Amino acid sequence: MKRNIKELISQMTLEEKAGMCSGLDFWHLKGVERLVIPSVMVSDGPHGLRKQEEGGDHLGINDSIKAVCFPPAVLSACSFDRDLMHEFGDAIGREAQANDLSVVLGPAVNIKRSPLCGRNFEYYSEDPYLAGETAAAFINGVQEHHVGTSIKHFAANNQEFNRMSCSSDADERTLREIYFPAFETAVKKAQPYTVMCSYNRINGTFASENPWLLTEVLRDEWGFKGYVMSDWGAVNERVPGLKAGLELEMPSSGGVYDKEIIAAVKDGSLDEAILDQAVERILNIVFEYTDHRETQEFTLEADHALAKKIATESMVLLKNDSVLPLKETEKVAFIGEFAKKPRFQGGGSSHINSFRISNVIDSISPDATVRYAKGFSADDDVYDETLAKEALETAKCADKVVVFAGLPDSFESEGYDRSHMCLPGCQNRLIEEILSVQSEVIIVLHNGSPVEMPWLSKVKGVLEAYLGGQAVGEAVADLLYGRACPCGKLAESMPYKLSDNPSHLSFGDGENVRYQEGIFVGYRYYDAKEMPVAFPFGYGLSYTTFAYDHLRMDKSDITNSDMVKVSVDVTNTGDVEGKEIVQLYVGDLTDAARRPVRELKGYEKVSLLPGETKTVNFTLDYRSFAWYNEAIHDWYAASGDYEILIGASSRDLRLSGKIHLTSQRTLPYKVHMNTTLGELLTDQRTAGYVEDFKKKLSTIFAAPSADGRRDEDVAITEEMNTAMVACMPLRNVVSYGFCSKEELLEMIDKMNGR
Ligand code: BGC
Repeated sequence: MKRNIKELISQMTLEEKAGMCSGLDFWHLKGVERLVIPSVMVSDGPHGLRKQEEGGDHLGINDSIKAVCFPPAVLSACSFDRDLMHEFGDAIGREAQANDLSVVLGPAVNIKRSPLCGRNFEYYSEDPYLAGETAAAFINGVQEHHVGTSIKHFAANNQEFNRMSCSSDADERTLREIYFPAFETAVKKAQPYTVMCSYNRINGTFASENPWLLTEVLRDEWGFKGYVMSDWGAVNERVPGLKAGLELEMPSSGGVYDKEIIAAVKDGSLDEAILDQAVERILNIVFEYTDHRETQEFTLEADHALAKKIATESMVLLKNDSVLPLKETEKVAFIGEFAKKPRFQGGGSSHINSFRISNVIDSISPDATVRYAKGFSADDDVYDETLAKEALETAKCADKVVVFAGLPDSFESEGYDRSHMCLPGCQNRLIEEILSVQSEVIIVLHNGSPVEMPWLSKVKGVLEAYLGGQAVGEAVADLLYGRACPCGKLAESMPYKLSDNPSHLSFGDGENVRYQEGIFVGYRYYDAKEMPVAFPFGYGLSYTTFAYDHLRMDKSDITNSDMVKVSVDVTNTGDVEGKEIVQLYVGDLTDAARRPVRELKGYEKVSLLPGETKTVNFTLDYRSFAWYNEAIHDWYAASGDYEILIGASSRDLRLSGKIHLTSQRTLPYKVHMNTTLGELLTDQRTAGYVEDFKKKLSTIFAAPSADGRRDEDVAITEEMNTAMVACMPLRNVVSYGFCSKEELLEMIDKMNGR
């Protein structure tokens, strides 16, 4: 149906239009009955529906409908699988249609700046490329059903402490390279119907009233077409917010801010056209949904099966010293209450009322020989002598022991950050005690963000189940017993200890959080520092092995507009079927700017039978090589060589090649009295002007000739001479008497093209 929304808006009163720009209640937008504008519902969330029929809240306190809790983002991102994320989105879209939800409030793509952020379990990655690709696939899946998504929280919302008022203070390059691209990719590849602005300020300005963020960057540059809604209660000043590009305030503020909008239109401080435009953007999305209602027949059962598939394809096998998979003939001890009561989701607004939860004990084959001992409670950190004793007895009598460890609910949630990266002390203590009576120990982890693993070198196996969604038990059982082959890889680095993390000295600050590590987040930092980590980004084991061979590129010399095709052959060299996540990283060898050693610019997941080989293809474009140059406020790749690295993780790079890029873009320059000779000499546009000064200075700084040389003159080298000249500011040529100040100023004008 073709609607004339502009015409409809022309029939609305000022009050009705202002009313459209805020919620009716906690979850609904307002409708206008006389104009047949329906009131639609939005609902959390990113990994399942939290539809509240009554008693709305944004903290997961009151009940919501029975639904499927799919794996939270922390786990699903480890699938590195666009098709699977699309299938995930498709299920959410179908469920939303069946439950009459016009928009689901997700995905959440904030970058994991620190392992401590209480909401990391809701976020995909420390890497913006992976987060963006994952989000785009999910959004496309949902929106195929004409149900909107709300990609959140835009932007730089990376901690929970003071999240509603603190300012994330970062330079533009850092925002553009690290904190924005997941949103940018999603907008460009999937056009989410809505964007949810974050609570925090960015460099002092609230996201909810930031015209640069919400209009210049989001709409004008990236081409966003939907509407922006506020996070729940993120509005600071409504009229500046509306002007900045915040169309919808959520939830309802009881009409308080609608009145401010009306008053501003009446007194002329708000152009009514801005209000009309906001209403138009909201109504476009409302009708996109209501005009395309689908009769969806989804079953919770089928979606539970999908939740299991996503979990199985995402869990990460971190260590395996020939201890896994388990055999049904082995006597195995399962220790830890998480085996019975798995932690599979986090607290807060994403909390799902799961219709079923599977635990590992109920999911193993009836033929398997497993004895369970509780060992410790899944809810707190209390060492219980009786439970520990029983666990040790059970461990002694078994062939192998699997400890189901993890973080209790109270350790991580929306609303607050962790203060340390440790498992409960009672769990670490029991693991050590088990290790003293049993050598075959495997740890299964249930956590929303990395934990320190003090026992890592002593255990034989570690399976990172993260928060696995409601089918967690089935997925873990299949992976432990080899009914499925592990194929997830880490979407974040796991440092040995908290203080290794680059944000350690500023994370969790109160009013102004300085993002002083800049672009060096996650592996970008650990690699630049050559720092050992417990497990690197992109890492994950399998029950089979893969060989990489025959890297080829269709071009070795490119310019800005070229696309490069990169291909590699991957072979399953083991004896079980498996999936490999092939990763492509680009390293800048030009030395034109300080950059990470390498950055992820492509990945593909490929399924291989034993002995099978497949060719994996990637396409790189200019952006794959570029960094954000603040001087031109644009992406820029300098001329020179770039390394193409293909591997199984960020630190397991198997093949490499080189590409030469000739940039067609010249950077603007402005010469002044303190521009260095070095800068001028390396730029062909200015070198000619200063060659003469260079020669004269070189003579002055040159070492005395052999006969007049004193012992201390050995320090005066050619290298020193070159460095001294290069660092000399232009103004010094006057003090050395090479020219007058007037002559120099005239030359500067010429260099500047005046
Ligand atoms: C969260 C959002 C959520 C909203 C509604 C807020 O507290 O930050 O992610 O969508 O509540 O529940």
